[in-house]
Amino acid sequence: MTSLDQALRAALHTRQPLLDELHQQGTDCYRLFHGSQEGAGGLTLDRYGPQLLVQSFHQSLERDQLLRLAENCREHLNEPLLLVYNDRSQGNSRVDRQDPVYRAEDAALDDLVGHEWGLNYRVRGRHAGQDPLLFLDLRNARGWVKAHSADKSVLNLFAYTCGVGLAASAGGARESLNLDFAEGNLAVGRENAALNPELPPMQFIQSDYFPAIRQLAGLPVAQRRGHPLPSYPRLAARQFDLVFLDPPAWAKSAFGTVDLLRDYQSLLKPAILATAADGVLVCCNNLAKVALADWREQVLRCADKLGRPVRDCQVLAPAADFPSLDGQPPLKTLILRF
Ligand SMILES: C[S@@+](CC[C@H](N)C(=O)[O-])C[C@H]1O[C@@H](n2cnc3c(N)ncnc32)[C@H](O)[C@@H]1O
Repeated sequence: MTSLDQALRAALHTRQPLLDELHQQGTDCYRLFHGSQEGAGGLTLDRYGPQLLVQSFHQSLERDQLLRLAENCREHLNEPLLLVYNDRSQGNSRVDRQDPVYRAEDAALDDLVGHEWGLNYRVRGRHAGQDPLLFLDLRNARGWVKAHSADKSVLNLFAYTCGVGLAASAGGARESLNLDFAEGNLAVGRENAALNPELPPMQFIQSDYFPAIRQLAGLPVAQRRGHPLPSYPRLAARQFDLVFLDPPAWAKSAFGTVDLLRDYQSLLKPAILATAADGVLVCCNNLAKVALADWREQVLRCADKLGRPVRDCQVLAPAADFPSLDGQPPLKTLILRF
């Protein structure tokens, strides 16, 4: 047995109590091996319902090793998991679609369904983007939203495939509005809605973040020097009871730059203004090099400066399938009550 097989065995053993709990609560999407913290940096093994997704970010796995890891997971879970191997060790973490190491069976690449907090989510091993359709480290945050959305108007910013919006709908939100500029991602959100037909319908807005949130916040949409702005959907100013802000680490558009390291404020300020006076803002920062304490201070200062001091600030950590030896997980989540 290689040291990698041993590391996986230890990770599966440590997770057993969590896996029992997750299965009980209707969840079969979780991380089985978080290499950076469990002995193999740049390697992750995730279960997405019937699928086992292996991703490597630093170097390719050898075929025999890959097949052994998959067999160990199947045996441990007693499930015939369908293997997909996305080698992302090339530039920009892009999936090597040539599959020189292992080509997944058609069944593994079909449209599948995984479950989280009793909800159905679309699972697709390969699609136009690079990342899986559901970010697993946000599971606890989606659970929190589900438990705190009853009768609330909910705004899900940088919605991606609308997992947070779906959790809000399931939690009894009277409105669940998902905003993202990528129609392809919102289309998966619509699929997720269709996979849960008993839930009240969600709403979708395809727009760049900056003009949308500034209009909702009642702020002017800033013109960049000498550059006419592309067209954008017009929205009336309004506030929401629960706002969820989980942006990417960095993204540039014609309207501005999302930069979680240098400028969280430009994202946060209008999101606070779009949160109702006695509402809640859940905000995230997934950049590993940003320390929780520094970011938390920045966030609280920004709210103070806006005359919207935070009454209560709670930290929400990812679950134990994302262990962090130093207690500083890359994904940091704050629940701010105004
Ligand atoms: C890391 S994902 C966010 C994860 C998401 N919050 C979730 O719950 O899974 C980043 C998303 O931000 C969107 N995005 C990036 N820049 C944007 C912008 N300027 N305006 C609107 N959406 C943007 C992308 O299309 C993508 O769906």
